[in-house]
Order: sequence, then C-alpha cells, then structure tokens
Amino acid sequence: MDASSSDALELTLPTLDATEALARRVAPLLRAGDTVLLSGPLGAGKSAFARALLRDMAGDPVLDVPSPSFTLVQSYETRRGIVHHYDLWRIEPGPDLRELGLDEAFTDITLIEWPDRLGADTPPGALRIALVPLADGQRRACLAGWPDRLRNLMEPS
Ligand SMILES: Nc1ncnc2c1ncn2[C@@H]1O[C@H](COP(=O)(O)OP(=O)(O)OP(=O)(O)O)[C@@H](O)[C@H]1O
Ligand SMILES: [Mg+2]
Repeated sequence: MDASSSDALELTLPTLDATEALARRVAPLLRAGDTVLLSGPLGAGKSAFARALLRDMAGDPVLDVPSPSFTLVQSYETRRGIVHHYDLWRIEPGPDLRELGLDEAFTDITLIEWPDRLGADTPPGALRIALVPLADGQRRACLAGWPDRLRNLMEPS
C-alpha cells in the first residue's frame, strides 16, 4: 500500500479476493446519506466490489447481488440500513437521470457504477473509488474523498 497524496489512498488488488477484502473494509464506514462512486472500465471489478460490500452489510455471505446493468437499480435492506446499488452504464446524462429516484436514494446509502453519467448531479462528499485493470490482470484501486474516514482503513482489525 502507498498513499499517492494526502487525500487519496492507492493500493494494488492482486486478486478478486483482495477486491472483496477492500469492500469489507469500506462497508463499516458507511452510514445513511453516504454515496460511494465506483468508476473504472468494463470488467474492472465494480460489481464484484459492490457485491462483497452488500453481503458484508447484510450479514449474508451468499446474498444474491445481480449486476443492476439492466434494472438500473437494486435496493437492499441490510443490517446497517437501506442500500441502493445503481449501474448507470446505459443512462444518458440529463432527463433519464431524473427518473431514477436518485434524490430520495441519496438519503439512504448509494453505490453507483458509471458515476460519470451523473454529471452536475454528482453528490458532493461522496467516497470515490476508481478501479483500474493492470496489464498483468491485477487491479489498482484509488480511494478519494474521505480522508478522515480512510485514514485507518488498512490497519489490522
Ligand atoms: N483484483 C482483481 N484481480 C483480478 N480480477 C478481479 C479483481 N477484482 C475483480 N476481478 C474480476 O473482474 C471481473 C469483472 O468484474 P465485474 O463484473 O465486477 O466488473 P464491473 O466493473 O462491474 O464491469 P461492468 O462495467 O461491465 O459492470 C470478475 O470476473 C472479477 O472476478
Ligand atoms: Mg458492473
């Protein structure tokens, strides 16, 4: 692990297990009103991250978490509050967005894949997680936006 700047945390995720372990570290940080923006190219691991996070929050290691790429949003009642998982891949910025109930969702916990579609509707104060596939198949993760809450993220628990 290395910190690339005072506000961002960068780490290498060698395997899917590492992606899932990171999600389980982030899960306990979340509370009502929080948004996690999950960016990265097709197949970067955004849905895998969201699945592990939701399973942890629900306390159910086999919870069914389908990718919301067609339904656009799937909502979950977890032990730690309602979580809305969006995939905005097919959304055009503009009127489409207003039909997604985002304003109400933002009062709960929201996980958003393809957050670039939000444009000016991007909520301030979100945790931004970018996943980047490396040439060798590993992933690079960059977490930004919550310097205080991220400070102790990778300490032994
Ligand atoms: N750290 C990692 N190293 C190697 N493979 C990984 C890692 N994290 C996730 N993967 C793999 O990446 C693949 C794609 O994951 P996923 O479907 O979550 O991507 P996505 O970013 O949601 O893609 P899309 O934009 O198409 O929805 C999965 O097969 C998953 O096992
Ligand atoms: Mg996905």
